[in-house]
Amino acid sequence: MKALIQSARRAVRPLEFAAKLARERLESGISYNPTAAKIQQDPYGFYRRMRTQDPVHRSRIVDGWLLTRYHDVDAVLRNHVAFSNRTQQSLDERLVSLIHIDPPDHTRLRGLVSKAFTPAAVANLRHRIEGLVERLLDEVSGQERFDLIGKFAYPLPITVIAEMLGVPAEDLDRFEEWSNGIALSVEPILTREQGEYIDRNNLALQGYFDEIIEQRRRYPQDDMISALIAAEEEGEKLTHTELLNTLTLLLVAGNETTRNLIGSGTIALLRHPEQMRRLREHPELLDSAVREFLRFDSPVQLDGRRCLQAVEVGGRRILPGQVVLNAIGAANRDPEAFPDPDRLDIGRQQTSHLSFGRGIHYCLGAPLAVMEAKIAFAALLRRYSSIELASEPKVRKQVVLRGPEEAWVDVERAT
Ligand code: HEM
Repeated sequence: MKALIQSARRAVRPLEFAAKLARERLESGISYNPTAAKIQQDPYGFYRRMRTQDPVHRSRIVDGWLLTRYHDVDAVLRNHVAFSNRTQQSLDERLVSLIHIDPPDHTRLRGLVSKAFTPAAVANLRHRIEGLVERLLDEVSGQERFDLIGKFAYPLPITVIAEMLGVPAEDLDRFEEWSNGIALSVEPILTREQGEYIDRNNLALQGYFDEIIEQRRRYPQDDMISALIAAEEEGEKLTHTELLNTLTLLLVAGNETTRNLIGSGTIALLRHPEQMRRLREHPELLDSAVREFLRFDSPVQLDGRRCLQAVEVGGRRILPGQVVLNAIGAANRDPEAFPDPDRLDIGRQQTSHLSFGRGIHYCLGAPLAVMEAKIAFAALLRRYSSIELASEPKVRKQVVLRGPEEAWVDVERAT
C-alpha cells in the first residue's frame, strides 16, 4: 500500500509538530493528530466531531486536508485527473507500485495484475480457502480459549496470498515481521526509527523475492510470480522494479487488510450479541453482514491523494501539491449516506461503503477478501455454539490500517 505523506526522511520534529497543531486549532477550532493514541484506539467520536465542525479540514501536520464527508471522499477518489495517487512528489522508486501511480503506467500495470483476480480465478480458490479455514480451526480444537487473530485471522489471508504468489509455505513465518514493517509505511506521520524499520523490512522482503524470482526464471511454475516474470520478459510491459514492488504490494495489501476485516468483524459481532444471534438464525444475511462489517469498522481508514489541479471541495479551495487524506472510516459513518450510522445492522440494505476505495484504484482483491471473510465467519459460527471475548482486544497502534492485534476468545464447540 502506500506511504501517504511524510516519509521518515521528512519526519516532523516534536516542537514543530505541537506548533502546527496549535495553529490548526486556532484556524479551525479543531485539530487532527493522527498519532494520538485516543484516535488510534477509537476514531469514530473524533470523526463525528470533525464532520460536524469542519468537514473539509485544513491540516497543518500533513500540509493538506482531511475530508470526512461521504460525498467529498467519494468525489475525490473518483477524480484521478485532479487527484494523483503519487502522494509523495519524490517517492523512493523502490516503493512505487500499482497503488502509487497514475495512468498510463497504472492502466498497463493494473491490466497485467488483474488477470490473477478475475472472478473465475477467485472462484477457483474457494475449495482451498475452505480447507485452510477448517485446518486452522482444527489446530485450536480442544482449546476453550485462543487468540482469534494469531491463530485464525492472521494466518488465513497470508497463506492464501502466499500460495497465489507461489511463495513456499515453509517461508511464511518470516513474512509476519516483514509485512508488519512495510504496513507501517502507510501511516501519515512516522518517526525516523519507524522509517528505518520500514526500510529494513522492505529490503529484506525484496531480497527474498529476488531469490524466488531467480528460481522461477529457471523453473517456471503455475503461480503469479512466474506469470509476472513472463510479462517482464516479454519486453516493455513490466520492469524488474515494478515486478518486485507488485509482489510486495500484493503481499501487504492481501494480508493486513483482510486480517482486519475478519478480526474487527468478529469483534463487532461479539459486542452485538443480538446481531450474532440474527446471523446464526439467518445465514442468508452473510453477504450483507460482511458489507456491514466493512462499513462499520473499515480496515483501511485513510486513503491519500495529492492534488494536481486546483479544485473546490465543500467550499474550500484545494491547491496543487497539497495532500488530501480521505477518511474512509469517517465517510462510512456519515449520517447523510447511512441512516443511524453508528448502529451495527447486519441486514442493512444501503451499504455502498467506501472501504475498497472508488474509481480506477478500486481494490483488485475485493472479491477475494469478501470470499475469505464469508468462509471464515460461516465456519466460526458453525463450529462454535458460543464465542465470547475473554478480555479487551488489543488494537494496533496505527491510524490507517485499523484492526485488532490480539483478541482472546472463549469458545464452546457446537455439538
Ligand atoms: C478487507 C480487505 C481489503 C480492503 C479493505 C482493501 C482496501 C483497499 C483500498 C481502499 C484500495 C484503494 C487504494 C486507493 O484508492 O489508492 C485498495 C487497492 C488495492 N488492493 Fe485492496 N483491500 C483489501 C484486500 C485486498 C486483497 C486480498 C488484495 C490482493 C490479494 C488487495 C489488493 C489490492 C491492490 C493490488 C490494490 C491497488 C489497486 C490499484 O491501485 O489499482 N486488496 N484496497
